Amino acid sequence: TVRHARPMLSLDNSYSREDLEDFDRRVSQGLPDEQFDYVFELKIDGVALSLNYEDSLLVRAVTRGDGVQGDEVTANARTIHTIPLRLRQPGINCEVRGEVYMENESFAKLNAQREADGEPLFANPRNSTAGSLKLQNPNLVAARNLRYFAHWMHREDTNHTRHSERLEAMRDWGLAVNPATKRCTSLTEIFTLYDDYATSRAELPYEIDGVVIKVDRLDQQERLGNTAKSPRSAMAYKFAAYQALTQLLDIHLQVGRTGAVTPVAILKPVLLAGSTIARASLHNEDEIARKEVREGDTVIIQRAGDVIPQVVEVVMDQRAHGANRFVFPERCPECGSLAVREDGEAVRRCTGGLICPAQAVERLKHFALNSPAAEIAASSGVDVDTSSLAHAEGTVL
Ligand code: IVH
Repeated sequence: TVRHARPMLSLDNSYSREDLEDFDRRVSQGLPDEQFDYVFELKIDGVALSLNYEDSLLVRAVTRGDGVQGDEVTANARTIHTIPLRLRQPGINCEVRGEVYMENESFAKLNAQREADGEPLFANPRNSTAGSLKLQNPNLVAARNLRYFAHWMHREDTNHTRHSERLEAMRDWGLAVNPATKRCTSLTEIFTLYDDYATSRAELPYEIDGVVIKVDRLDQQERLGNTAKSPRSAMAYKFAAYQALTQLLDIHLQVGRTGAVTPVAILKPVLLAGSTIARASLHNEDEIARKEVREGDTVIIQRAGDVIPQVVEVVMDQRAHGANRFVFPERCPECGSLAVREDGEAVRRCTGGLICPAQAVERLKHFALNSPAAEIAASSGVDVDTSSLAHAEGTVL
């Protein structure tokens, strides 16, 4: 654990134009009779990381932790391609802050591999980034293909007067600064950019959960000061989570390799954030009970950085008369063996072992994907197609 030289504050969040206009008014009042402008940035949905450079060499990387002290993860940070080990200009002592993130494509590959290995999946790229930074083996971290965008910098021996100059300096030194960053002179300009990214964000290769605006001049930032938790000179303007309304047609129970019985909502297909969603996670039986989900219900589904859509809630006043409460079966829907829920566990598991056709297929898939033959096939560029396995249960057994 390492103490930060300066506390790592967080940003205040706003969710509407009015919130942002209020913020702009407060800034105006804090800087009477002064001109000021903002820097517009994307809010990267990742994990905050502070980098310390001494004489231009990366000497320490520390996670945010509680803002006062965080975990040192230097060896892992050294494996991230967009974090230079040495800055392009000599003699620089500075602290850089930014966001470690995982591109959606790397995230999908990682989860596919975890599924094949029978390991629990990460819910979203932020979780997989946080998990990766905690790994004890930097070689494993290197394989995760993490990336970094720098969005803040502190340096004593400099005559920078603006945040935008510091961003430019970081770029010149070889750090990755997000290309969407832009100086803006009016809120109107910021609202237009916000709207643009709110619609086009699904096309970016990484997740963003909003935008950030920061007063550009450093002396004005200093005069505005900080609250206990955040600077008064910056504000996040978050995107609404992607949500859609649809009908839950059926609750399907999926039996995995280890016998875990997972409920999945089968939905009337609906377009959400650029893809058609026909299934959503219901997590486990307690969640179904907590949300009082029933077949036939109209439900709100959501993707909030999560790749697997979630059922958020039921629209109760649209519930059909006579909709039955969902009773989670105590027997496996595939083989009829007892499905047991151990004390303190959220998951119910089929006890059928290889008698259960679903477990047999999933275990065979796992075996096929992890066998030496699969490795040889993969290394020779042959695609291992498991989709046919799912349809071959009779033959397999
Ligand atoms: S500025 C004083 N700029 O959002 C806060 N933060 O609570 C300095 N984040 O954990 C942060 N993109 O890691 C800033 N362009 C951006 C950002 C950004 C993502 C993260 C940051 C922090 C959280 C805000």
